[in-house]
Amino acid sequence: MFPSELPIGVFDSGVGGLTVLAALRRVLPEEHLLYLGDTARVPYGTRAPETVLRYAEGVAGHLLGHGIKALVVACNTATTWALPALERTGRDRGVPVVGVIRPGVDTALRVTQGRVAVIGTEGTVQGGRYAALLDAMAPQVTHQSVACPLFVALAEEGWTEGPVARLVAQEYLGGLRDQVDTVILGCTHYPLLRDTIADVLPGVTLVDSAESTAHATAAMLTEHGLLRRGGPRATEQFLVTDNLARFERVGERFLGRVPSPARVVDLAEADHALWHAASPEVAT
Ligand code: DGL
Repeated sequence: MFPSELPIGVFDSGVGGLTVLAALRRVLPEEHLLYLGDTARVPYGTRAPETVLRYAEGVAGHLLGHGIKALVVACNTATTWALPALERTGRDRGVPVVGVIRPGVDTALRVTQGRVAVIGTEGTVQGGRYAALLDAMAPQVTHQSVACPLFVALAEEGWTEGPVARLVAQEYLGGLRDQVDTVILGCTHYPLLRDTIADVLPGVTLVDSAESTAHATAAMLTEHGLLRRGGPRATEQFLVTDNLARFERVGERFLGRVPSPARVVDLAEADHALWHAASPEVAT
């Protein structure tokens, strides 16, 4: 099989990355997509860096075992703690890797007038990857970061509008009012709360990195000669590590349709080892 015929592996800690998968489908309609939501171990946002790295490498190994041509890390927390390591190993394995943070920063820098806020999970804020990139790419831009952990639960509960969501958003974000002109939605779940966040921060531009991640993926596939052109209809497949029924029910809100076909898989120690197994070029 030509490598271009292999699916793009897309991974997230759970349902959130489906917002990225939806964007990939729009931007790359001819690509096969293989999604893995690590629903047995969600959330990643409150876990230690080394734990997130170990989980991410296990998931990457599992996807590699299915055969993928590229990997999209559709989770901000996993991108924060695991992207550099995944990129390094991916290079050895001939599997290019894209995360969600750089594309979000690129978009924010195109639209900002100089005052940016990043909102995300505790891990994403503590990891400081957004902040480091903003400093490196645009030292003249001021920025601050706010962790909004309850937004994840609200989005999964479907409480994205109404008094509860508004109160929580006001509590987290009220201090940013008139302080920033652009807010990066640095978590897969936050685009679902877009209207509520916009109400609390009127006039602020909200940046959702899903679309720019899809464009970065397209550019990466082109660069590596991996773009699929034509052929039989593009397929999608969804894998989860726990509670399929919940993934299908909650996932519908993130994807705009029921993620299907979907099934449960077990991640084994072997998956982690598979990601780390030396590539033939390295072994010789
Ligand atoms: N997908 C995670 C992120 O974008 C949010 C959910 C979690 O904490 O696992 O950071």
